[in-house]
Amino acid sequence: MKMRVRIEIGRDCTKALKWFLSYYYLIMSAADIAVGVYPKLEPEDLQILESIELQMKRYEYVPEYNVYEPTSLPPQEVAYRLPNLRKVGLIRRRRGAYTGYSLTKAGYDTLAINALVKANILEAFGKPLGVGKEADVYDALTPTGTQVAVKFHRLGRTSFKQTKRKRGYITEYAYTPDWHRQSRIATKKEYRALEILYQKGVAVPKPFKRNRHVLVMSMIEGEELYHHSELPNPQEVLDEILNNIRKAYRNAHIIHVDLSPYNIILQPSQHILIIDWAQHVTIKHPNAQQLLKRDLQNVIRYFQRKHSLGTKLEEGLAYVKKDTIEQK
Ligand SMILES: Nc1ncnc2c1ncn2[C@@H]1O[C@H](COP(=O)(O)OP(=O)(O)O)[C@@H](O)[C@H]1O
Ligand SMILES: [Mg+2]
Repeated sequence: MKMRVRIEIGRDCTKALKWFLSYYYLIMSAADIAVGVYPKLEPEDLQILESIELQMKRYEYVPEYNVYEPTSLPPQEVAYRLPNLRKVGLIRRRRGAYTGYSLTKAGYDTLAINALVKANILEAFGKPLGVGKEADVYDALTPTGTQVAVKFHRLGRTSFKQTKRKRGYITEYAYTPDWHRQSRIATKKEYRALEILYQKGVAVPKPFKRNRHVLVMSMIEGEELYHHSELPNPQEVLDEILNNIRKAYRNAHIIHVDLSPYNIILQPSQHILIIDWAQHVTIKHPNAQQLLKRDLQNVIRYFQRKHSLGTKLEEGLAYVKKDTIEQK
């Protein structure tokens, strides 16, 4: 009887712990965890995280006895540090045929932060700037005191939400290496676009550096256009947006593809910047014309509806494409 009661209590505790963890992961974003834990980590901990990351190319969960191999650490030291890394949320454990470990989102974030600190790009983290559809963005400082925005790509967030709705506390566990790979690809894609667009004079944040799924760019002041229900001169704002779509199209050969009042920031100077280029295409894409039209439609319809402007889609399209040599 005593034994049974103990087992019941044990089960309840495990349940309670799971609920606590799920709640913790919901209120603490992975980046929050990584930013908080990073200063307390020792080089040995980072070696262990790197070893797990490396071997996750081969294993979903890296066997405990393999973790020490690529490190310079003795197995006992690794065995001693693994539970701590798990406790702070950087790795997760699976028990089964063997005990294995894999990185959590916060674990990946920590490795990217470490690389950016070592590359002299990041020194201190500030507050979250925005949680978007597929990214968490933080403000941070470089060692020379420049304020930057740090974007952690989170592809698959939408499907996590669905999984979470169905299964409760599964969010963190649904993050697979494949989602991480997709996030890394998106980061590379966005970084490349920003480099070209910035160089061609399109109004975008200046890209500084990227590592894994994390992109560092200049910090923008202002708010998404969506939040500005009143504009002193809406026509000027729309014209500036169209001019930048045109420059991106003609000079950089890039189409945004997800353009909306959420991805346009209006700065205090009343000038705009266009953000979130991860899903852009080049003008050679088979659906380039449709995608360009859709971008323009999103913007022009918004100004028609919200600011009663008379600009028509055809006019916008003609302006953006004027004097453009069509690419086959
Ligand atoms: N360079 C930046 N400076 C300041 N805030 C930014 C910057 N980039 C993004 N943000 C903020 O983060 C939010 C999400 O970023 P975004 O690139 O649009 O990603 P998502 O794909 O998640 O929508 C933005 O809506 C904006 O509030
Ligand atoms: Mg966005």
